[in-house]
Amino acid sequence: MSQHYLLVKQSPPLHGTVQLVGAKNAVLVIMASVILTNGVSVLENVPQSADVMHMIILLKDLGALVHFDHHNNKLTIDTTALNAYEVKPDIMNKMRASILAVGPLLGRFGKAKVAFPGGCLLGARPIDYHIQGFKKMGALVDTQETSVNITLKPYAERPVYTRFILEYPSVGATENIMMFAAIGKGTTEIINAAIEPEVLDLIECLTKMGAQITCKEGQVIEIKAVEKLQPISHRIIPDRLEAGALLLAAAITKGSVHLPQARADHMDVFLDKLSAMGHNIKTGTNKTLQYPHQGIQLTATQNPIAIPFKTGPYPCFPTDLQAPTMAMLCVTSGTSTIEETVFENRLLHVKELQKMGAQITQHDQQKATIRGVESLYGADVIATDIRASCALVLAGLVAQGQTKMTGIHHWRRGYEKLEEKLAAMGALIEEIIQQ
Ligand code: EPZ
Repeated sequence: MSQHYLLVKQSPPLHGTVQLVGAKNAVLVIMASVILTNGVSVLENVPQSADVMHMIILLKDLGALVHFDHHNNKLTIDTTALNAYEVKPDIMNKMRASILAVGPLLGRFGKAKVAFPGGCLLGARPIDYHIQGFKKMGALVDTQETSVNITLKPYAERPVYTRFILEYPSVGATENIMMFAAIGKGTTEIINAAIEPEVLDLIECLTKMGAQITCKEGQVIEIKAVEKLQPISHRIIPDRLEAGALLLAAAITKGSVHLPQARADHMDVFLDKLSAMGHNIKTGTNKTLQYPHQGIQLTATQNPIAIPFKTGPYPCFPTDLQAPTMAMLCVTSGTSTIEETVFENRLLHVKELQKMGAQITQHDQQKATIRGVESLYGADVIATDIRASCALVLAGLVAQGQTKMTGIHHWRRGYEKLEEKLAAMGALIEEIIQQ
């Protein structure tokens, strides 16, 4: 039987200066947002990840012309001929982020049809907040067994002003509602909106398109619809989650790393936690007028200290760095505690780390206690989501012997050949494809 896995061996301390790719969780929604425009948009610093390739398939299926210049990470999207408003089940079920096409399709066509999103094992991950928002803004939502048909009431029957309170600052719901509200008539206020850096990058794009969006005090986003939105050129923000992975790779192997493009102002709490472990962090090492906090330098401590942390909506500790940080804490002396509050089932990597000798007690689906051990042991492990794959690679870098990680498609979904960047820093890691 053919085998496809990442082979990770115990590695020396990693050292290097690494360039970052664009943020996956910014580029996917920005690619969807150009559905609101007619013409050619150009996106720079686009990562070559499986999720990006999947969003390209989605856009092409709707009738857009898309060209990806892999060498320059440059994506050109022509939406002139875009003529379909249905996101097909096979596309929807491969990537949850496909749901982000709904808001733009409603804005462009006044209707959208989508299958219920598939996504990964992170719990139910419903789309109820998205649907609630669309309904509040005058959408008619017809929910079938496995799909949702959305149409719009005539303008005269839709509210001129919508005040929508998100019961949770959902990233996707904030983005979808904002994209729908950006075009047409009326004003929408989203209260308790998500304010992740990737949401703000989308706002910058929509504003460039001509949207009238104001971020107010207290996580309130006001959107005044305009008649028409224009194509754009935009450089995607650097990926704070790739940055986190590289910082942790240097930290766990007791090495060092410099990330000249990393935006320290996108990851304050995470950097504070690395400092609390004892690692030496310098920021603003590549300051530019526009971004005074650009550039992060980490030099690992030889004796990291256990810490508690709890994930939450931005600017709290990012849920997408929970699993990779747990790997670091597995070999950090003392007892650490982790609480995952964003997703209901995002500790599936615990049992895989336990296979490697990690001493983790999982109290429930959200809480775990980690007692640091001297060493982990290589094992055959399975990645359960994108960020779990990162945790297992990090653990494999310090585990005695070798680790084989299957479920490599998760790694490919979230990172652009990150194993090559780690190898350039001295990691013993390679992709194995055995027929
Ligand atoms: C985005 O997912 C990111 N994905 C996730 O990154 C990230 O973990 C998450 O935001 C939180 O930061 C993309 O941007 C493509 P949410 P999203 O809506 O929008 C519940 C990665 O590894 N919820 O903020 O799906 C939901 O179940 C991925 O890069 C509802 O109940 O996240 C979850 O518990 C993983 N109803 C919580 O809210 C809804 O209608 C946060 O979800 C929507 C969400």
